[in-house]
Amino acid sequence: MNPVFANLPVSVFEVMSQLARTHEAINLGQGFPDDPGPEDVRRKAAEAVVSGWNQYPSMLGLPELRQAIAAHYRHWHGLALDPDAEIMVTSGATEAIAGSLLALIEPGDEIVMFQPLYDAYLPLVQRAGGVPRFVRLEPPHWRFTAEMLAAAFTPKTKLVLFNNPLNPSGTVFGRADLELLARFCQEFDAVAVCDEVWEHVIFDGRRHVPLISLPGMRERCVKIGSAGKIFSLTGWKVGFVCAAPAILRVLAKAHQFITFTTAPNLQAAVAYGLAKTDAYFEGMRRDFQASRDRFADGLRSLGFPVLDAQGTYFLNVDLAPLGLNEDDETFCKRLVVEHKVATIPVSAFYAADPIRSVVRFCFAKRDATLDGALDRLSDVLRRSPA
Ligand SMILES: Cc1ncc(COP(=O)(O)O)c(C=O)c1O
Repeated sequence: MNPVFANLPVSVFEVMSQLARTHEAINLGQGFPDDPGPEDVRRKAAEAVVSGWNQYPSMLGLPELRQAIAAHYRHWHGLALDPDAEIMVTSGATEAIAGSLLALIEPGDEIVMFQPLYDAYLPLVQRAGGVPRFVRLEPPHWRFTAEMLAAAFTPKTKLVLFNNPLNPSGTVFGRADLELLARFCQEFDAVAVCDEVWEHVIFDGRRHVPLISLPGMRERCVKIGSAGKIFSLTGWKVGFVCAAPAILRVLAKAHQFITFTTAPNLQAAVAYGLAKTDAYFEGMRRDFQASRDRFADGLRSLGFPVLDAQGTYFLNVDLAPLGLNEDDETFCKRLVVEHKVATIPVSAFYAADPIRSVVRFCFAKRDATLDGALDRLSDVLRRSPA
């Protein structure tokens, strides 16, 4: 068996989900909304199943969806993408990430990755033969500096795997951060694989800036999106990849032998959804922001030090100022067993030298779910071991 997967331990995500089931906990660990998602988009999918095309669609994705993606990104990000040569539909962002890494990495290439990192990244990089070079981000700001990048980039750097907005920290990297990263990508001739699945889930009037839109980055970026996140339909697993034709051609060859295509009916519904008016996307952000504020205010009133959450479905609490005598994992296990609320320790997102004081909560839940969780958390700090 291949050691990369054979030696993977049971993940903290699985452990917490199992504990959540055993203890009948409110599950704020896994990142999915408890709302069914936009009804018109779901109806469109249902119609397409009943009366639409249910055979293999085009390998690159339904032409109508590729055109909708191009129009959507032109409108939201000012990007001019050719739907026939620069856009491909994949089975979730996860396939897009896996395919990009398999298609672009050669054994021995160095890959710059930012910790905390999404759990799929490291095994996929290693399986492709890449050698990780970590940039370690820390609370409260989770920002990188030129010194941190200078320590990670080397002449062997082939690729940068960059997640913006960043899960789990909820950080939205703005133009100045991106310009710094772009400078290093160009200086070291690296390709940036940009996981931007959270591009629409950002708050407080922020605008998402894709790295591919920066000068000099058009030919060296792979931009990855996910309809699952854009429409709060996380189980749909419809992703998209945008890249210059020379890169996309190679990514398409990997896609051809991984999944080849993605359910055509869901693709049709996503094409419809991407053309929705700005009011839909702004309303979605407003609703998630209201949930974030409700939950953050509630946690603060209970004495939890809440970190800034600029995007994603997640907010984090930093236990460090509380002086508790336990690390994030022990704290999360106590929370689920004694208080019946499941969360995720952020140390699980580090491959080396973890931050051990931060706990991630998913706030993308109905008010009643969040209020129920706050109620269960009300005596945590009163009963904590000092
Ligand atoms: C950073 C990041 N990348 C990728 C994914 C997976 O996206 P998809 O469900 O479209 O495969 C997630 C899901 O939580 C994520 O947070």
